Amino acid sequence: MTTSKKLFIKTYGCQMNVYDSERMAETLAGQGYEATDQAGEADMILLNTCHIREKAAEKVYSELGRLRPLKDANPDLKIGVAGCVAQAEGAEIMARQPLVDLVVGPQSYHRLPELEAKARSGAPALDTDFPAEDKFDHMRGPRAARGPTAFLTVQEGCDKFCAFCVVPYTRGAEVSRPADKVMAEARDLVERGVREITLLGQNVNAYADADGVTLATLIRRLAKVDGLERIRFTTSHPNDMSDDLIAAHGEVEKLMPYLHLPVQSGSDKILKAMNRRHTADHYIRLIERIRAARPDILLSGDFITGFPGESEADFADTLALVETVGYGQAYSFKYSSRPGTPAADRAEVPEVKKADRLARLQALLGAQQKATQDAMVGREVSVLFEKSGRLPGQMVGKSEYLHAVFAETDAAVGEIRKLRIIESSANSLGGELALGQGPVTQSA
Ligand code: 5AD
Ligand code: SF4
Repeated sequence: MTTSKKLFIKTYGCQMNVYDSERMAETLAGQGYEATDQAGEADMILLNTCHIREKAAEKVYSELGRLRPLKDANPDLKIGVAGCVAQAEGAEIMARQPLVDLVVGPQSYHRLPELEAKARSGAPALDTDFPAEDKFDHMRGPRAARGPTAFLTVQEGCDKFCAFCVVPYTRGAEVSRPADKVMAEARDLVERGVREITLLGQNVNAYADADGVTLATLIRRLAKVDGLERIRFTTSHPNDMSDDLIAAHGEVEKLMPYLHLPVQSGSDKILKAMNRRHTADHYIRLIERIRAARPDILLSGDFITGFPGESEADFADTLALVETVGYGQAYSFKYSSRPGTPAADRAEVPEVKKADRLARLQALLGAQQKATQDAMVGREVSVLFEKSGRLPGQMVGKSEYLHAVFAETDAAVGEIRKLRIIESSANSLGGELALGQGPVTQSA
């Protein structure tokens, strides 16, 4: 091992990038790098980028520009670009911005040690391959203690080719990791203190390993791991919600009652133009079946306003679908044209219409979200405590529905307690220990 150097990683975008950043930090720890949250003291800065929406590359260039004084102050500082912008435009970034010493795409993170050595020797270090070897096998880091929650990537890439989306191009084809490797990683996380695992995949519910293990089977296996108390998964496509996975929501106690199931639009015409391959009615009937299995499930979704061809009537269909479903959480975006995607050369809806529809949609979704959160008052929830709150004696954690809950308690980080919700504020709930409840090890 070489002498200790400092690594600063800035992560943009989705949870998979958060997971990847952790794994990159672990991989580079083997090269003598220690993580820092101070860019100013770093010997290596990695930007783990996101390409999903507009101006992705511009944002990377302006962030790189902000790093110039650090490079001027420390000529040994190495700057790298990782993630989906690196995959899509890495070579161009390297050519255009001499500050960049290293470019690495999401499927090549296990090659970081070689790339780092190359960059240190002053050679161009760029890798945006989709190598055949399993990157996860080569990313074993030190077994440091972990907080109570962790992401675990089980599936990457996407074969759905929604007409607006860059993911099939930046992350490649759908690949599922073997279930035994996922189980081994999960057990390792639990030994290191993790109580809740969120299984990640761009299409996580399409998970299927070479032995035919499905996501539902994987969840049932994980539920048998002692010490693992909670399981979540994200993000899913409606067409891959199998009967078995729906049943698991009713049967597996450790599977939390929260489901992120993007629909994007409520108009059949737009769903077809988006290549989503299902109708609004199909989605609504699916939600009914999921709620029949787990009536208290909190639903979350993604929406796009102003997709090419969207009329006011199409948008009204989206509002109607939202009214019918009732979301406890949601993410919504104005359509942004992404180079290389099928929708990129279609005539765009004017920006003012996109923005106006987004504002109206967000008003409705925001009201549903607030009503769902307020309706928790008086209910008993189980909370996994993650850290101390701002006030003395206060702890903060997440309920099974993923609401942040504050409480005065002697519970330690990683403990699960039953709480009665006594107040709802802007973005969180307040709870008090439910009477007669000591620590619980099993989530309810
Ligand atoms: N424009 C706007 N939103 C997009 N998303 C993906 N691609 C685009 C795009 N080109 C949104 C979708 C997806 C979420 C991760 O990002 O809603 O579900
Ligand atoms: Fe993108 Fe559609 Fe694949 Fe989701 S399902 S990653 S939106 S192409």
